[in-house]
Amino acid sequence: MNVLVTGGAGYIGSHTCVELIEAGHTPIVIDNLCNSSAKSLDRVREITGTAVKFYEGDVCDETALEKILSENAIDCVIHFAGLKAVGESCSIPLRYYENNLGSTMTLCRVMAKHGVKKIVFSSSATVYSGDNEMPLRETSKTGNCTNPYGWTKYMCEQILRDIAKADPEWSVVLLRYFNPVGAHKSGKIGEHPNGIPNNLMPFISQTAIGKREKLSVFGDDYDTHDGTGVRDYIHVVDLAKGHVAAISHAAKNKGEAVFNLGTGTGYSVLDMVKAFETANDIKVPYVIAPRRPGDLATCYADPTKSREVLHWEAKHDQTDMCRDTWHWQSNNPNGYDE
Ligand code: NAD
Ligand code: UFG
Repeated sequence: MNVLVTGGAGYIGSHTCVELIEAGHTPIVIDNLCNSSAKSLDRVREITGTAVKFYEGDVCDETALEKILSENAIDCVIHFAGLKAVGESCSIPLRYYENNLGSTMTLCRVMAKHGVKKIVFSSSATVYSGDNEMPLRETSKTGNCTNPYGWTKYMCEQILRDIAKADPEWSVVLLRYFNPVGAHKSGKIGEHPNGIPNNLMPFISQTAIGKREKLSVFGDDYDTHDGTGVRDYIHVVDLAKGHVAAISHAAKNKGEAVFNLGTGTGYSVLDMVKAFETANDIKVPYVIAPRRPGDLATCYADPTKSREVLHWEAKHDQTDMCRDTWHWQSNNPNGYDE
């Protein structure tokens, strides 16, 4: 299939381009590079031997999308483009709503005009309400989001669900990611957050390489096996393969479907620190710090539905996640910057 990948120069998008190419599909990328570098797509070419057609542009820009859908016979869209920093979304909420909702609505309008009615959307475990039992199933309660970013994902899901309800020709696949980590095993593509990382794994790897003095472990008094927060970390290559499965599902089924992309296993912050130290034979200095506001003790998926319906499951383990994160970080200490 010819797959329009919005936000395809980003962390998950670039890994998905590799997996799409390896599965025989043709990714066509639009990205405004607000949180990425076009060099990621050069690296995708180095890995796969295939150049990715790239349009630098904004998904909120109808004219830019018109051009792409006129020039390419798109079969399906994977919509990654979006702003994703939880803290930033609390200080500039309007920017988050404009970008994340605006891009989704403009994209769907232009798609419908061109008769393209298959979309896979990057949603998040953050749409689940904090008062659910674990593990989280697709039927678990959603809403009560704790920040504007989470609400944008919740609202985009609703918009897409309504589109699928109104027009039975649409196929909408909502993918709820748990905690993506790791990098392609080549060490050529990976995650390089701007500034101080918010997320655990980039903070661990930047501490290991000496860019950060020490990791702050946010809370050691949670009701978990060692008191630190437990999450469902998933290797980004497994996540990327989940998108290949999702476009096959969209090609064969109409209507709306929602899937968790997680492993079903939770690891604590200290489990991840120890696994990283062991896998890479390197120390990660840390201190115990106060809890981070808004954090849950535990969050992990029930991935049964993805396994049964998408025929997808995560294959990489915690050691792979830690080794591949470090391989990318140590080969590219400044990300895609020289
Ligand atoms: P990323 O920032 O690396 O990728 C997003 C890409 O979208 C970037 O390349 C950015 O430049 C681009 N972009 C943003 N707004 C755009 C616009 N209006 N027009 C064109 N391009 C635009 O982030 P990622 O980690 O690869 O995340 C991809 C998607 O997955 C996002 O929607 C994110 O919210 C979602 N998600 C990520 C995580 C995570 O922990 N990484 C978890 C759950 C969901
Ligand atoms: N943590 C630390 N120190 C840090 C960073 C994180 O102890 O410097 C802890 C957190 O308290 C939490 C765990 O590590 O217990 C994971 O935190 P992350 O920030 O890496 O991930 P979250 O689970 O908080 O959130 C991530 C994304 C969200 C997404 C969610 C579910 O940031 O956007 O996963 O997919 F919604």
